[in-house]
Amino acid sequence: MEPEHYFPCPSSCLTRWWSRETVAVVTGGNKGIGFALVNRLAELGVSVVLTARDRQRGEAAVENLRKQGLGDFVHFLLLDVSDPLSVLTFASSFQAKFGATLDILVNNAGVSYNELDENSVEHAESVIKTNFYGPKLLIEALLPLFRCSSSSITRVLNVSSRLGSLDKVRNGEIRAVLEREDLMEEHIDGVVGTFLRDVRNGTWKSQGWPSYWTEYAVSKLALNAYSRMLAKRYSYEGSGLSVNCFCPGFTQTAMTKGKGTHTADDAAALAATLALLPPHLLPTGKFFSLGKKATFLNPTSKL
Ligand SMILES: NC(=O)c1ccc[n+]([C@@H]2O[C@H](COP(=O)([O-])OP(=O)(O)OC[C@H]3O[C@@H](n4cnc5c(N)ncnc54)[C@H](OP(=O)(O)O)[C@@H]3O)[C@@H](O)[C@H]2O)c1
Repeated sequence: MEPEHYFPCPSSCLTRWWSRETVAVVTGGNKGIGFALVNRLAELGVSVVLTARDRQRGEAAVENLRKQGLGDFVHFLLLDVSDPLSVLTFASSFQAKFGATLDILVNNAGVSYNELDENSVEHAESVIKTNFYGPKLLIEALLPLFRCSSSSITRVLNVSSRLGSLDKVRNGEIRAVLEREDLMEEHIDGVVGTFLRDVRNGTWKSQGWPSYWTEYAVSKLALNAYSRMLAKRYSYEGSGLSVNCFCPGFTQTAMTKGKGTHTADDAAALAATLALLPPHLLPTGKFFSLGKKATFLNPTSKL
């Protein structure tokens, strides 16, 4: 992963629009950036559903937060984003407990099987299933549970990576598909399907896919494209939904074997700031990355 400069944006400068009735879901909340984000949101007084694919690890993380006095703000629900049945079960458990009150969804759960200096595509199917189809299925399952209120905007923050930027794709045809103004789900599925076919055929190296952490980069490329498409779909006045992406930069977590330019707490502080932007400052269709802000090809975005 690329080292990056970090310009902290203190959450303390936020205008507080939320209350403890505000409900956030964070996937992959048992460790790393996800755990730090649950911690930060709970400290700021948001009710957070910490989700994890492993009950023991999830409950241990919640217990850790309880010991810090945050027990009233943190709830646990099981969720394996790579398993469609788990996504549906989670959505119905969420509905039973909270109803249609979801204000903030942070799709943070993610995997990478490459070492920092490696590039294998051995786990391509599983990485794409977790990092792209997981968030997509979860958003679709939770859409009916987003809070519909004239005074608030439900926000989806997809934790992505600059490794999935379009400029990492060297194949002009693929880039052109993902840059389409009328981008649709089937276009993104087509690109992902082509990549998986190239992996199966052993031809992926010569097809112009991103050259570093290729399977991971393609999963985030697809997530970015889907986020842009969704943001555009909900860009009409009064839709009540904002969709943005966030790259935490090179962060010291299990994914990087502890290497990085900053801690998970640093990354989570910025993610919390983005997730809690007041409605009048909240953009849609943007890609944020640690102090830098790049625009998706979204001409209707508000900033
Ligand atoms: N660290 C970086 O430098 C960096 C840079 C750019 C982007 N990111 C992104 O930041 C996000 C968080 O990563 P991290 O660095 O905090 O990594 P991490 O410490 O490895 O944490 C990943 C989290 O995702 C969970 N997870 C993995 N597969 C899952 C699944 N199928 N269902 C539910 N949860 C699952 C893990 O659960 P288990 O504990 O059960 O494995 C863990 O809680 C990821 O989306 C990653 O791609 C990280």
